[in-house]
Amino acid sequence: MVGKVINLFKSVTPNLAAIKMHYYLSVSAVDGIKKDSSDLLYGDAKEKKVVEMFDKIAPRYELLNTILTFGLDKRWRKIGVSLLGLNPGSLVGDVACGTGDILRLLNSRGLVGIGLDPSRGMLVAGHSSSPLVQSTAEHMPLKSESLDGIVTSFALRNFTNLEEFFNEAFRAIKPGGRFMNLDVGEPKSTLIKVGHNLWFNRAVPLIGALFSDKGAYAYLPKSTSYLPAPNTVIKMLEDVGFIQVRYRRFLFGSAQLWHATRPVALN
Ligand SMILES: C[S@@+](CC[C@H](N)C(=O)[O-])C[C@H]1O[C@@H](n2cnc3c(N)ncnc32)[C@H](O)[C@@H]1O
Repeated sequence: MVGKVINLFKSVTPNLAAIKMHYYLSVSAVDGIKKDSSDLLYGDAKEKKVVEMFDKIAPRYELLNTILTFGLDKRWRKIGVSLLGLNPGSLVGDVACGTGDILRLLNSRGLVGIGLDPSRGMLVAGHSSSPLVQSTAEHMPLKSESLDGIVTSFALRNFTNLEEFFNEAFRAIKPGGRFMNLDVGEPKSTLIKVGHNLWFNRAVPLIGALFSDKGAYAYLPKSTSYLPAPNTVIKMLEDVGFIQVRYRRFLFGSAQLWHATRPVALN
């Protein structure tokens, strides 16, 4: 299977190193997106900081996810993978795969997952049997039209250039292929928003500091400022060429999901 997967890669000059029997590939840094928030980083500085942070929290990442979402994160990922509607045997890239939650899910459903993530710590802490590539979302070393689908979960906020990522995803997906992005969201109802903000902005950093890394879990609520509004994401996906872009919210909007299709033929 690894041979088949490696053939998907563009012929860039790869820096391959076998780690835990997986393949990793180093890709250079990317441009930044500008947003009106003074204490957040952008571009290369953001990428460096975010990757270092995930390297640090990797060993306890899944435990904290389960605690902080009461295990709901797993349910949302399952719905996201189901919404892809892909047949067993389909090849799916999990961009920002982290420790491989989605990769294990893909494998359990007979889909063939390939994980991409720039954090070596997250890749090493993972325990899926899928091939892994050390790569950012903005410069994926994948051949054009090589995958049946691309998924990404709880990661968009960490990317440095969303336009580049959406373009890359569109390029790598075959005509007729599918795209899915799952992320945290913010409830609309004022009452629920108060509870959600208390949990996300106060409890999460405290619990994170207790079980893992203080700085990283203080960054988590802040990082939502990087996430564009739902309609902006829809527009961005349409602008790169996706069609049938659909949006869903879970738990009063605490989590949100977009899925889309690459058209069979461009108009
Ligand atoms: C919150 S974790 C999500 C991991 C996994 N998708 C999940 O659902 O648990 C965010 C991931 O984004 C990765 N990441 C950060 N910057 C990235 C970038 N520019 N391109 C791709 N992945 C990136 C991090 O290394 C980390 O593994």
